[in-house]
Amino acid sequence: MASPEFAKLPGFRDFPPEDFALRAHIQDAWRRVARRYGFQEYDAPPLESLDLYVEKSGEEIVGQLYNFVDKGDRPVALRPEMTPSLARMLGERSRSLSKPIRWFTMPQLFRYERAQRGRLREHFQWNVDIVGEANVAADAEVLAVAIDGLRELGLTADDFAARVSDRRLLTALLAVIGVKQAQLGAAFSVIDKIERLPEEKADHLLADQAGLDAGQIGTLRELLNGASMNELDETFGGDAAVASELERMRHYLSTLDAMGLGDFVQLDLRIVRGLAYYTGIVFELFDREGELRAICGGGRYDRLLELVGGDPHPAVGFGMGDVVLGELLADRGLVPPYARSVDYFIVPVTPDERPAALRLAHGLRDRGYSVSYGLKEQTVGKQMKTASREGARTVLVLGPEELEKGVVVARDMTSGEQREIPIAELV
Ligand code: HAM
Repeated sequence: MASPEFAKLPGFRDFPPEDFALRAHIQDAWRRVARRYGFQEYDAPPLESLDLYVEKSGEEIVGQLYNFVDKGDRPVALRPEMTPSLARMLGERSRSLSKPIRWFTMPQLFRYERAQRGRLREHFQWNVDIVGEANVAADAEVLAVAIDGLRELGLTADDFAARVSDRRLLTALLAVIGVKQAQLGAAFSVIDKIERLPEEKADHLLADQAGLDAGQIGTLRELLNGASMNELDETFGGDAAVASELERMRHYLSTLDAMGLGDFVQLDLRIVRGLAYYTGIVFELFDREGELRAICGGGRYDRLLELVGGDPHPAVGFGMGDVVLGELLADRGLVPPYARSVDYFIVPVTPDERPAALRLAHGLRDRGYSVSYGLKEQTVGKQMKTASREGARTVLVLGPEELEKGVVVARDMTSGEQREIPIAELV
């Protein structure tokens, strides 16, 4: 057993090869999909100044920061999310970049959360953002990337759905029932948690913290309990602000429909997002069974770049974590079995063939094959055992006679078939 002083910190993961394989499987899919949509990859420092997160990200994340004062007396924090770093980077250089900017990244992030199913203290998060385009087509484009990221891993519309809403639409609806601008922050913060709160507690918070009366709470409950576009239109469409927000939502939904992704998307006014900077359409992706935490969350944040001191640019994007996703893939039997493998394992029969074996290994590696061999002199039998353990597809045996003839004996490790191949043919 490891000595207790060196135990892994709670909420952090080791990635031995069999676990790293799943991480790579997920990240390779994310990268393929982002590139397919024309996004460019970027990164930023894992440590940022504390100020970048305070106020811009909102209370919840600030309470979860890993922060400290560095040796130069600077208050700093490990990044809990990527969006403020993106806004900072673009603040410095967005003028010289042609819009819209399509950028993606997959940073490791750190949040001091209570570790629970689907939530750890570090995770990798795929971030895909479009900056410089206010049109709802950009909102649809980023949601399409998120959906395709999951489809690429074998998940279907039976496995997950995107629940979408718009903070502007909910604001307009609440205005109709008399909720004031000043009450919205508190109301949104309760709505964000409403599914995890007992009904009585939520009603109490809506009254106590957001100042809603019983009638307003009742109407809000109806809105949150799955009101459809048509129902919203019938009841609230007479209000000009609501009508224009519904029109935008219709455009968004029909764009996703046109992409063939309509089955993945449902309107759900309970989605407001916990982070403070969202200004428009917001969405979260959940497993259909409703067993897991959100797989992905994002939305429009048109004022963040300005807040961190840059030029104002509209922006929209999402973050998708690897933790819940890994669990969902495991639940659905979509984690590829891990198997160690190399294309070739080379077996010199005696020490005399070693130089030729090394030359052959190097020649094959230069051609892009994966090649291994024993690192010390051993009997052929022991070397064959190592070859199996390392998952060799083909073993190349090189003895004195073979060397003389310029051939190797190639043994197919699946079929057991053996044949001689001229070395010149291999390299
Ligand atoms: P977020 O909703 O805080 O958004 O995180 C996005 C996703 O990251 C979550 O849906 C979840 O899958 C994963 N995640 C978050 N915290 C944890 C955790 N403690 N453990 C495991 N997974 C976690 C943001 O961070 C926004 N900055 C996303 C964004 C990008 N919005 C616009 N652009």
